[in-house]
Amino acid sequence: MTRASPSSPRLGLHRLPEAVLEGAQISGHRTALSAAVGAETLRAGDRTPAKVAVIGTGYISRTTLEVFAGLGWSCDRLAVFDLDHERAESFASESRKLPSRLTAEVSVAATLREAVADANVVLFATTAVMPRLSESSRFKDDAVVLHMSLRDLTPEAMAGAVHVVDDVSHALREKTSLALAVEQGTVERQDISPVGDLLSGTVKPDRGTRAVYSPFGLGSLDIALAQLVLDRARDAAGVVSVPGFTCTS
Ligand SMILES: NC(=O)c1ccc[n+]([C@@H]2O[C@H](COP(=O)([O-])OP(=O)(O)OC[C@H]3O[C@@H](n4cnc5c(N)ncnc54)[C@H](O)[C@@H]3O)[C@@H](O)[C@H]2O)c1
Repeated sequence: MTRASPSSPRLGLHRLPEAVLEGAQISGHRTALSAAVGAETLRAGDRTPAKVAVIGTGYISRTTLEVFAGLGWSCDRLAVFDLDHERAESFASESRKLPSRLTAEVSVAATLREAVADANVVLFATTAVMPRLSESSRFKDDAVVLHMSLRDLTPEAMAGAVHVVDDVSHALREKTSLALAVEQGTVERQDISPVGDLLSGTVKPDRGTRAVYSPFGLGSLDIALAQLVLDRARDAAGVVSVPGFTCTS
């Protein structure tokens, strides 16, 4: 085994574990923050859509709404839909209790169509494995679709939208809706932009056009967030440091 220099952990040269962290919350928050970066970039910083729709009311949607509320987003109406009606009901009642009030009106939609109708922002976080939503006309013309679950929209529904991802080659793997759309020719690969290009101003999205944000989710972002959590946790109350844990001290 080669032991790397212990002096440069931030450069990835340190191969010994520095800490053990619970990963689900870090990864969930990384995903939620990624959704927020996509939404804020594609809406040019406007955090006040009239209507938000949430499709799939599990952990990722819950965390995403909490992050949006924490960032100061607000909307007049929030519509939620889940194949499991009870989960949707319970999500709706939790959403009404968010500490920073995200919305005045929360409703459980009877159908996906009803939920997305007129929504300015649509969050997909289902566990669907096969694309099923085929009509892009169900979305508002200028809707921002945060397609976190990556496999809800058919190639037809992907056509005619602005497409933004975290990393193009990742987003085109594993039979995602975007991969199928490129394969079937409803989206051209050169028309897909990494969100970094929008953030740097290299690409400017057309705000009047429906935009679909499909971030594949990058492990490197989990590591970056884990580092931030670790840095902030070091001096927090209740944290126990184990001397010699890294075998370097
Ligand atoms: N892009 C990313 O970076 C990233 C990161 C983490 C998770 N994800 C994805 O987010 C999705 C949600 O993850 P989770 O942990 O919240 O799952 P979860 O199981 O907690 O919740 C999923 C919810 O979707 C509902 N659902 C399933 N199929 C549906 C459908 N066709 N229509 C409506 N509702 C439906 C389920 O009933 C459930 O309530 C998964 O697909 C996961 O792979 C993406």
